[in-house]
Amino acid sequence: MIDVATLAAAEAYARDFFSRDASGHDVEHTMRVVRTAQRIAVEEGADQGVVCLAALLHDVDDAKLSPQTAEHLDNARAFLANHGVTPHETEAVLTAIREVSFSKNGGAAPSTIEAACVRDADRLDAVGAIGIARTFAFGGSRGRALHDPSGQDRQTTIAHFYDKLLLLKDMMCTQAGRRLAEGRDRVLRDFLDEFLAEWNGER
Ligand code: ADP
Ligand code: NI
Repeated sequence: MIDVATLAAAEAYARDFFSRDASGHDVEHTMRVVRTAQRIAVEEGADQGVVCLAALLHDVDDAKLSPQTAEHLDNARAFLANHGVTPHETEAVLTAIREVSFSKNGGAAPSTIEAACVRDADRLDAVGAIGIARTFAFGGSRGRALHDPSGQDRQTTIAHFYDKLLLLKDMMCTQAGRRLAEGRDRVLRDFLDEFLAEWNGER
């Protein structure tokens, strides 16, 4: 069993970790992933401690933020070792963290139900109104253009909707994830309709 003190320590660790660097990965993202993952875990009958701990640590070895620790998840490993998490639970948490990444796993199915909960929760935070906000925040942080109507420039923020965000609904791994993704995907489509209509001077 992963105890409450370990979860509290992991939250404190995440708050400290993400206070140093922000671009798209503020601690509020991590806390939303925790909440959504816990909600999915209830429906799926997943291990709440593993899900919560993996969600809290899921971005502390992100390749964009921490390239030197990303391959072996050194930050998460060190945290788990320092807090007396058992080898069995450590493996479960690391598996979930490893299987969250879009770029590393793409469409490959998660190997545990706990990994499925955290992965769906992370992807749900990339869609819906908050997903739209994060995507423009990320684009702004990289100085990206909003839109290129020719479609040639795939680095624009609108291109990211087509290249990634609109694909996420069909990549959900859990029932609850699929249900939540439906509504958030609609928000993306409605937003794109309105954005393009305004861009084209139709509204
Ligand atoms: P996560 O921690 O949710 O897996 P990512 O590291 O993939 O997130 O990206 C953080 C946020 O930035 C997400 O909302 C994502 O959609 C957005 N983002 C990532 N890559 C791009 C991009 N090339 N253009 C615009 N937004 C992006
Ligand atoms: Ni994330």
